[in-house]
Amino acid sequence: MKRITFSLLLAIGICWGVYAQQKISAFEVDLKSKGASIAPDMWGLFFEDINFAADGGLYAEMIKNYSFEFPSPFMGWQRIQEQGAMGYHYTKPHLDESKNKKFLQMQRLNEEGVFGMSNAGFRGMAVKANANYRLTFLARIAKGENLSLKAQLAKGRNILADVNIEGLTRDWQEYEVMLTASETADQVNFRILLEGEGELDIDMISLFPEDTWKGRKRGLRKDIVQLLADMNPGFLRFPGGCIVEGFDLENRYQWKNTIGEMKDRGTMINRWNIEFAHRNAPDYFQSFGLGFFEYFQLAEDLGAEPLPILSCGLACQYNSGEIVPLDMLDEYVQDALDLIEFANGSVETAWGAKRAAMGHPEPFDLKYIGVGNENWGPQYIERADVFEKAIKSAYPDMIIVSTSGPSPDGHEFDYLWKELTARKAELIDEHYYKSPEWFLESARRYDNYDRNGPKVFAGEYAAHSTTEKDALKKNNWEAALSEAAFMTGLERNADIVRLASYAPLLAHVDGWQWAPDMIWFDNLGVYATPNYYVQKLFSTNPGTHTAKITANGNSVAGEDGMYASATIDEKAKEIIFKIVNTNAEMRAFDIKLSGNVKGKNATWIELQSNQLDVAHSLKEPKKIAPVEKSVEIQKRVVKTELKPYSVNVFRVKL
Ligand code: AHR
Repeated sequence: MKRITFSLLLAIGICWGVYAQQKISAFEVDLKSKGASIAPDMWGLFFEDINFAADGGLYAEMIKNYSFEFPSPFMGWQRIQEQGAMGYHYTKPHLDESKNKKFLQMQRLNEEGVFGMSNAGFRGMAVKANANYRLTFLARIAKGENLSLKAQLAKGRNILADVNIEGLTRDWQEYEVMLTASETADQVNFRILLEGEGELDIDMISLFPEDTWKGRKRGLRKDIVQLLADMNPGFLRFPGGCIVEGFDLENRYQWKNTIGEMKDRGTMINRWNIEFAHRNAPDYFQSFGLGFFEYFQLAEDLGAEPLPILSCGLACQYNSGEIVPLDMLDEYVQDALDLIEFANGSVETAWGAKRAAMGHPEPFDLKYIGVGNENWGPQYIERADVFEKAIKSAYPDMIIVSTSGPSPDGHEFDYLWKELTARKAELIDEHYYKSPEWFLESARRYDNYDRNGPKVFAGEYAAHSTTEKDALKKNNWEAALSEAAFMTGLERNADIVRLASYAPLLAHVDGWQWAPDMIWFDNLGVYATPNYYVQKLFSTNPGTHTAKITANGNSVAGEDGMYASATIDEKAKEIIFKIVNTNAEMRAFDIKLSGNVKGKNATWIELQSNQLDVAHSLKEPKKIAPVEKSVEIQKRVVKTELKPYSVNVFRVKL
């Protein structure tokens, strides 16, 4: 038996070897081969609050634990009591019903020295010269007269901004002042100092750059959103990932706790705080300042379809595997129905009115909703059935995304595909975090999927280097190139692969738990990885229909180290083809265009490096970046020399 298996493997290996070595000297692009329509939103974004992607990242709040709601209420804060100052710092309970449970009381017993609190932000705090920072907080005088506050930005002894706040009263009031930084600096501290003898209650101490994305108060980091916008993404999946499930049910993402006023949003531990023992992040919590309203708003800003994923009543099966009995699932199902109403309902509906109260009376036009993330087993199917019935009977047009579990193959994957196919599921979410070799070898993964079965959402993927040990260098060209090769297979099969997104999206260089990631940042800057540029090449050159590109009469997915796909863009009246050369040598080809072209030149966008281990960094953010050039079309032939390890996109006018 063993010998038969070995012989079989040997035969397959030899066949693959022969196949992969077939020489290619020319490509043929059939300009009249308009095939299936490509989903207009095919290439999108997967956002998860992992790696400090939300608080400390995209969400521009600079103060960590701004409202003293972490279980350790002074985490992130340091008491300042210098030069003879005497006093105490306490946290006290609010007596109202809001989710904002605690506030800080500063009791100052004399007028000597310096007394207050400082906050060092998320793995540091950074400011830019002449930029304004908006400070807001709630305060009231509990005891004493003539108390005032001083807000400062300081780098060691160097004070970069200094503002006095007078007029404090005995009632809780909100205060807003602007601090202007005198210089650009990282590792800055924010200080709030109490002046005068007495007791001051203070809470929700929040500091944001004035210059956020679209200038919104409590907004998002402009530099990061700009990179996302530049990708012209088709959809935005949120809020993850495993964060949807939670390590237990209590820790699942509950969207209703993330909308409305900040005092009603609560604070919760982020599951990535404790997920990996080697990357523990004890200060990782969710303020939900970036909540579901803001996700919808961001999707709208980006021109992307919103794609929320909700808990199906099963906590992460790698962790607690806590499960909601089927007869107690109502609350979870209702969350899904209410979310659809929140997104799409008129302002007369209960949840539509909440959306309107937040400043968006128009609906968000939600089309997709995901039920569960990386769940598996019959328990998932039973719960998915309940959601499906409820969602479809209320909203028959809503497209439901189902999960196929955490792996792209194996028993659980096969089981879920079988069950979901039998139920005529619409979109199945597949995840693959695999080696670059896997990506190269899987470019034909979808060639033989059942055309009448469910469609695929390649919802999380990234090539993980098996040799690179430095996490920040895992986003190297080897990984990005293999993703590009694989993505030609997604594009060739765009009739079945409707949506695709790289994952995860964002990571703080000093606060990550998971690598590789598409975009890295610190508190001052951001950089896009080679993987980002590959994703962007596909998302900004998509086409409306599949088309044929062949060599030796066949599609190209690894033969001679080459990968290719083609699309027609009906709106731009262009044919777009992508050719990936994974060889270490330059390769010369004639690309024959069968059909009528307009003009004498094609646009050629090239992404390339001679070295597979090249990665970007904050200091060197653009070693690999697209180069656009023009190439002549002679008698319907484009003569090209494709550089080693290159991704090439050609656009030809029809
Ligand atoms: O992208 C990181 C994690 O990978 C996601 O949270 C999860 O869905 C997957 O396992």
